[in-house]
Amino acid sequence: MSQSSNARIYIDTNRVISEISPLLFSGFAEHMGRCIYEGIYDPASPHADQNGLRKDVLAALKELNFRSMRYPGGNFLSGYFWEDGIGPKDQRPVRRDLAWQSIETNQFGTDEFMNFCEEIGTAPMMGVNMGTGTIQDAANLVEYCNGATGTKYADMRVQNGHADPYNVKYWCIGNEMDGPWQIGHLDVVEYGKKAREAAKMIRLHDNDIELVLCGSSGPTMATYPEWDRVALEFCWDNVDYHSMHYYATNWEDDTDSFLALSAEFESFVDTLSGVLRYVKAQNRSKHDVYLSWDEWNVWYKARLEDDVKGLWTEAPHLIEEVYNLEDALVVGQWMNVFLRKSDVLKIACLAQIVNVIAPILTTTDAMLKQSIYYPIMLFSKLAHGNALDVKVNAPMYNTKLFGDMPLLDVSSSHDAETNTNAIFIVNRSQTESLPLDILWQDVAPKSVKSAYQVAGTDPKAVNSFDNPNVVTAVVINAPDIRDGKTTMMLPPLSFTALEVAL
Ligand code: AHR
Repeated sequence: MSQSSNARIYIDTNRVISEISPLLFSGFAEHMGRCIYEGIYDPASPHADQNGLRKDVLAALKELNFRSMRYPGGNFLSGYFWEDGIGPKDQRPVRRDLAWQSIETNQFGTDEFMNFCEEIGTAPMMGVNMGTGTIQDAANLVEYCNGATGTKYADMRVQNGHADPYNVKYWCIGNEMDGPWQIGHLDVVEYGKKAREAAKMIRLHDNDIELVLCGSSGPTMATYPEWDRVALEFCWDNVDYHSMHYYATNWEDDTDSFLALSAEFESFVDTLSGVLRYVKAQNRSKHDVYLSWDEWNVWYKARLEDDVKGLWTEAPHLIEEVYNLEDALVVGQWMNVFLRKSDVLKIACLAQIVNVIAPILTTTDAMLKQSIYYPIMLFSKLAHGNALDVKVNAPMYNTKLFGDMPLLDVSSSHDAETNTNAIFIVNRSQTESLPLDILWQDVAPKSVKSAYQVAGTDPKAVNSFDNPNVVTAVVINAPDIRDGKTTMMLPPLSFTALEVAL
């Protein structure tokens, strides 16, 4: 540490970055491993409702309050025939899912997904297959979901028991199409043209739809960021969002660097934000396209060959990452970045939601909330209104990957309607408690209404079915506010969320 006085956070409700898009708190559910089968949908479980949905999982997901849910993939999407997943269940075909080398029974499909979304109060975000699928297949699915009655696909929906259109607003045009692993992988010119024509047909069906274009699959791809520029140049006026994917890793077991990953997250957004501005100018357009971080999470412990191959079984155990305290702190600062970049980032989907790289794990009769569940729940509940540009003075520490970094990572929101201010703080130090002053510059806050902390001494601490409460959010004593200032001690390896009444 290079400084001995208290760290400081300065809050000014005039310093608005942007209104926070509620879609920043979204999820992603793929037909992969045990996310859908044995996770969301498990008729064999004692917790299943009349439709086979897990009631305990629904309750935990409701608490996370995902505002939209991306579905059905992921790599699965690029080989999926959506018509396999509708109609009487005993007539649906069983298929080999080539993406994950698993058996897909199609007992859960579009209509079951819509029912699931309704149960948890989330807006569906459907993907259309740009791998084996044609632009006609994509348009047919839109008609099935959103068409008024009287034409073929809309009437199929009615026949399947759903008279009213689902009016699905958010649609993704394919998944990771620059990835050589993707079924039906395309080069950017092929993708740009196909996506543009798919977008055209989708919009001809329903002009209220908002579309997400496939960005390159991550910043380590050779295609990045040129793919992004070219795909956007083809599709700029036809789409509303551009996707980004990133999975955080700590292969080297370098916790100091891992806990500074927000530097990487911000630079990823900054680069793509520059690409967006360039293409807008190049296309002489008045239209805006925003970023959709529609796959994000920590994922590296369950990433070997065996973790991604289902050996032609139903609901295999794939990438069931076990999350620890340091992962929860990375997730906390990731969501800080969502707020700090909320002017350009409008959608973010946690990948994924149950069993597969997920905050929730299930067995047939039990459910476990992993460490990352808690920061996600706190952001989803407390971050609303405007994101604020917060001034932070904190001691620095040195990291191998990012050089000197501040020990604190912070974001804040202000809701003028409810007169509340939320502050989210990660203390990256593995050893030091940090005394902190928070100073409000333009308002005289009344009190800290609630204060929560996720913390511990062991960065590798995990929850398990036998010991489920090792890493959780605990309610801490709310610090007093006097003369527009409060002082508190932040433990090492901690995430703190404060809800302040103004
Ligand atoms: O979320 C797991 C996989 O990661 C998704 O199917 C794919 O899009 C990404 O590579």
